[in-house]
Amino acid sequence: MPIQHAFPIPLYYNKPTEEDYELIQKELMNVHENTDYEIPERFPKHASHSLTPNPFESNVIKKYKCDVFLEFLKTSIRDYLQNLQYKMPMEYIIDASWITKNTLETYAIEHQHGGTDISGVYYIKTNGKDGNLYFNDPNQDKLGNLIMGLSVKQNIAPLEQGLLILWPGFLCHGTHTNKSDHERLSLSFNIKFTRRGFTIKDNLDDTRCIVVRDDTWRDIICYEELN
Ligand SMILES: [Fe+2]
Repeated sequence: MPIQHAFPIPLYYNKPTEEDYELIQKELMNVHENTDYEIPERFPKHASHSLTPNPFESNVIKKYKCDVFLEFLKTSIRDYLQNLQYKMPMEYIIDASWITKNTLETYAIEHQHGGTDISGVYYIKTNGKDGNLYFNDPNQDKLGNLIMGLSVKQNIAPLEQGLLILWPGFLCHGTHTNKSDHERLSLSFNIKFTRRGFTIKDNLDDTRCIVVRDDTWRDIICYEELN
C-alpha cells in the first residue's frame, strides 16, 4: 500500500464485564430516574437533546455514588494511557459528569470540550439506531486542498449499550438526529490530568470533583536543576 496516513488520533473503546455491566446499569438508571432533564439556555431549542440541570457544573457519578462505573472508568483511563506509553502517575480529576437524553428528532450540536484532557461517553440505553456519535476530522478546515479533500472523513462511532468511548477533549463531535421513537440515554464526563509542576488542591475533595490521587506524584523529581 503506497499511501500511509500520518497523525492518527487515538480513540479508546471498552466494555465492562457482564457482571459489572448489570451493576452499572442499576447505578445509572437510578441517576436517570432521579433526573429532571433540561435544555441549557444556549442550546438550540427546536432540536437539542436534554441534559442533567447545569450539566457541566455537576457530577452525577459522585452525587449518586456510581462506584462500579467509577472503577470501570478508572481502569479504562489507565488502560488508554498505558497503551499510549504514558509513564507518569495517574493523578487527575473527573471534573463533571452528566446524563444526556435524546428523543425523536433531537441531536447534539457539534462541539468540543475545551481544555479537558479526556472526554468520554458511556451508553446507558440505546437501540443502536437512535443517533450515532460522530467525530469531525481536525483537518476538516483543509478540505480545499486536493489531497486533503480526498482523505478527510467523519468518524462515526459505534452505538451500543454498555460501550464506553474516550477521546482527547479538543476533538469536535456531535450526534446524528434521533429518527427513532427510542429514547437514548448516555453518560458524559470531562477529565483533567495533573501536569508537571502542578498538584490537585486539597479543597477540591469536598466539591463536585472526583479526585483521583496518586501519592507518588508528589515525590517524582521531574525538574532539571537550575545552575
Ligand atoms: Fe460532547
